[in-house]
Amino acid sequence: MRTKTKRWLSSEIFLIFREGSAFLWDYKNHAQYEVNTGEFERLLKFSAGDYVMDTTDDRSIQESGVLLHAKPIDEWGWDVLSKIFHLGTCHPNPPSPDLPEMYIEYARSYLEFCESLHKDEPVMCSIKGGQQTLLPPPDINAIQKASLWDTLLARSTCRDFYDSPSSLLALATVLYGTLAYKKETDYDAPVGAQKFGFRRTSPSAGGLQATEGYVWARNVEGLAPGLYHYISEQHILEYVTPLPSEPIASYLCGQHWANNLGFAVLFTSRFDKLWWKYPHSRAYRPMLLDVGHLSQTANLLITALGLQPWLTGYFHDKEINELLALNTSTEHIIFLVGAGHGSGSSYTKETRSLIEGTR
Ligand SMILES: Cc1cc2nc3c(=O)[nH]c(=O)nc-3n(C[C@H](O)[C@H](O)[C@H](O)COP(=O)(O)O)c2cc1C
Repeated sequence: MRTKTKRWLSSEIFLIFREGSAFLWDYKNHAQYEVNTGEFERLLKFSAGDYVMDTTDDRSIQESGVLLHAKPIDEWGWDVLSKIFHLGTCHPNPPSPDLPEMYIEYARSYLEFCESLHKDEPVMCSIKGGQQTLLPPPDINAIQKASLWDTLLARSTCRDFYDSPSSLLALATVLYGTLAYKKETDYDAPVGAQKFGFRRTSPSAGGLQATEGYVWARNVEGLAPGLYHYISEQHILEYVTPLPSEPIASYLCGQHWANNLGFAVLFTSRFDKLWWKYPHSRAYRPMLLDVGHLSQTANLLITALGLQPWLTGYFHDKEINELLALNTSTEHIIFLVGAGHGSGSSYTKETRSLIEGTR
């Protein structure tokens, strides 16, 4: 026996193999099934369209809901990995009703959740152990003088930097304003969550401050060139390693206009903090957004200090992770914001010369 019409395998599934077993992952519906050899062969057939037969394998495939009445049309514009990630991290459930009588229950379960987190905490403060340099206090005066609106209007991405030094005060101010912990901490955080009662000037996913800052110091007055880690709690730079012999562009997929940056802040994410509080892969989204918020704060501070900002997420991840001596089982480079003196032009000299016809 078989159905009269063909069925097709959904394109929103993938298979993984683990310890001698195969698992079908229906990522759109957040469902997983173990697949036997017979089912595996039938899945292959259904991927090209086939009739459902009255067999145990076909029945279980049909019951799983991965068969479609029509051949799937894929309109996704990126590759399949991004589709798996995006659809796989969309909320699987429909909205629930808003029940004011339950608000107190929600508050109670939030506090219980905070308390339950109390165990297996990841190390919150990252200290690498390198030689420490206490940074000068930030130039709050300069930031206070700059109006928010003027700074927002003035911020623009520069790709034409002069080979001139940035001041240590500017670097200290950018780091402090972006990454340091605000002193005005709310100590009324619930039991189990006090440790995370600290705040930065930007919002942070889960209040975890999972983003760390490192500095590529190339041309900063009074600071030896090198790679440093910023200890947010102490406003201290700790030395990681000398600058490599190649210019920064070779780590940035050839973006040569970055070579004259005075310094760059490299943002990494401490995945272990996010895994611990939010074990679902959806937390990858706020991880990126967390870094994005800090990036914009750094961009505005750089602008307010009269420097030019530049930013990128296009780089050789593995090699930068190695330079920063990251433990990549838990921490990875995500983004970079550079600063320096420059013309402010969004075009490189070379691009401008072609536009203006001088080359
Ligand atoms: C997430 C993100 C990634 C970016 N990556 C790069 C990059 O790899 N290289 C680059 O030169 N600019 C990069 N930019 C800068 C954009 O090209 C720039 O913001 C855009 O052209 C708008 O110009 P504006 O910043 O001057 O307003 C990036 C910006 C963002 C927000």
